Amino acid sequence: MPPGSPKRLAGKRVVLTGASRGIGRAAALRLARAGAQVLAVARDAEALASLAFESKPLPGQVFPHSCDLTSEGEVEALAEVAARRLGGVDALVNNAGAGVFRELEKLAPGDFEATLAICLKAPFLLIRAFAPHLEASGGDVVNISSICAVTGFPGAAAYCAAKAGLEGMSRALAEELRPRGIRLSVLRPGATATGMWKDIPGEFDTGRMIPPELVAESLEFLLSQSRRVWTETMVVLPPDGRI
Ligand SMILES: NC(=O)c1ccc[n+]([C@@H]2O[C@H](COP(=O)([O-])OP(=O)(O)OC[C@H]3O[C@@H](n4cnc5c(N)ncnc54)[C@H](OP(=O)(O)O)[C@@H]3O)[C@@H](O)[C@H]2O)c1
Repeated sequence: MPPGSPKRLAGKRVVLTGASRGIGRAAALRLARAGAQVLAVARDAEALASLAFESKPLPGQVFPHSCDLTSEGEVEALAEVAARRLGGVDALVNNAGAGVFRELEKLAPGDFEATLAICLKAPFLLIRAFAPHLEASGGDVVNISSICAVTGFPGAAAYCAAKAGLEGMSRALAEELRPRGIRLSVLRPGATATGMWKDIPGEFDTGRMIPPELVAESLEFLLSQSRRVWTETMVVLPPDGRI
């Protein structure tokens, strides 16, 4: 099979978080089109059911699973459900994310904690819960970061901290998991045209942002790459080079 062949995804059992909309929804459809079995995770059960319905004609399958990833108990239950439903897990994609974007004095400590809970603590809980399953399959973890991990923006202190933390944690866990046969990569997109921008104060031209389907294409590439290479971090930006 040629390197980077999407054929490698046929039958692959993928747990994908944040699948109810935006990048995650596009990714679920893309992976199912390539034949993957996708457990699509988010809180919005109705949106997940409509995603599963839309995926029906595709060669793969999308199974909806509604849960709150900031709850340790719900993440542990998810790992059990995933292993049972999919018969094992070949890849975990930590895509779910959200941020509270406010200037310093308007950013309450609870806003800061909530941003870290979904962008940083949830991936930790998920990797911890799924590591035994991924070790058994020789699987992949892909953490969806952001250009905010390496660039500062006013009003984005919590989100930048969470994404920088996610990349720091990813570097440590990539080394820790490598001897266990688990490959961990970071996918770091620039501005992507999703509903996330509705919650950010200011005016933004979503027309020049990356379409979520193209971030999904990069994810498909990472998951279908030969096990003989490791893409530590993939950075995807709009073609004008702006973030
Ligand atoms: N859009 C951008 O410009 C951009 C750029 C770089 C990186 N990213 C990153 O890409 C990822 C996807 O972002 P997006 O733009 O597609 O955002 P989005 O459209 O707002 O989608 C966010 C997803 O996360 C899920 N989610 C949020 N909180 C959750 C929770 N507590 N439990 C379970 N699921 C939860 C949401 O589902 P429910 O609400 O149904 O739970 C939704 O499916 C995020 O990690 C984001 O930081 C985005």
